[in-house]
Amino acid sequence: MKKRVFSGARPTGRQHIGNYIGAIQNYVALQKEYECIYCIVDIHALTTLENTDRLQQDIHEMMLDWLAAGLDPQKSILFVQSHVPEVMELYTLLGMVTPLGWLMRVPTFKEKARMQPHNVNYGLVGYPVLMTADIVLYKAEVVPVGEDQLPHLELAREIARRFNSLFGPTFPEPQAKLTSFPMVLGLNGAQKMGKSYDNYVELAATPEETYKLVMTAVTDPARKYRSDPGHPEVCNVFSLHGFFNPDSTDEIAVECHSAKIGCVDCKKLLAEGINSKLAAFREKRASFAAEPQYVAEVLADGAERAKVIAERTLAEVKEKMGLLPRDV
Ligand code: TRP
Repeated sequence: MKKRVFSGARPTGRQHIGNYIGAIQNYVALQKEYECIYCIVDIHALTTLENTDRLQQDIHEMMLDWLAAGLDPQKSILFVQSHVPEVMELYTLLGMVTPLGWLMRVPTFKEKARMQPHNVNYGLVGYPVLMTADIVLYKAEVVPVGEDQLPHLELAREIARRFNSLFGPTFPEPQAKLTSFPMVLGLNGAQKMGKSYDNYVELAATPEETYKLVMTAVTDPARKYRSDPGHPEVCNVFSLHGFFNPDSTDEIAVECHSAKIGCVDCKKLLAEGINSKLAAFREKRASFAAEPQYVAEVLADGAERAKVIAERTLAEVKEKMGLLPRDV
């Protein structure tokens, strides 16, 4: 039998090329080998969102990107976390077997508490418990995540282990599966490509928008004049060629090194590479966008299929925890 994969992503709206390289293409590839469940975690988003006006729109835009990228509702379960409310029941129950000390030590909790000192809510502390509930509700064994999520996964394993030792074997201990691609830097070369840094190219950008954005990218800082030799090995733009122009990276490296091409030429090549690699994606995305009803149907069907598994696990958990009537 195929192993089950579960992964969740926050509803961040339109996805960028960093999301694609780091996560989405991996999700798509895993569909071949595993039974996959991919979830848009809207409840997790509430731990940091103060304004939820855009939440529904962001879920919709993200789904358009997922579907256009090749996440296939025939192969995988695609759903929104809050549409299967069983996860909140399991979250409460797992909270009873999770020592507070474990949660207070999680690095992301400390970081978020520092970033939003005016809003250190209870949900923020429970974040990894909800994430554990996501995973174990479906008894998933494999969890594709970025490196930043490893402490959460470790905690998920500890909670699963503790539940199993208290109430009998119930959950597999989920294993993290890291993507093989290194972190994608933003166009400014300063930090990871991310929504909050204004340094990204949306997958859904037009070719013209892509071109303009790529032209703003920071290249090898040591190359001041067109005639200076470049250093592709430290250039952020060059690292993106590896993904978007894989067949010509060697040539680009040689020509950059020998100053045969300048940074503007190099960025033109990158913009062309992005635009040609994403052309089919962009066409598909536009056709899904023209059918909002279809996206809603995919999500309704996903929630229905997820619910079947969720109900079964939750009944088993309640039984084991002594919450169901027993013959006396
Ligand atoms: N915490 C993850 C993130 O911020 C999102 C997430 C929620 C998740 N539940 C999950 C990831 C379950 C993997 C499995 O990226």
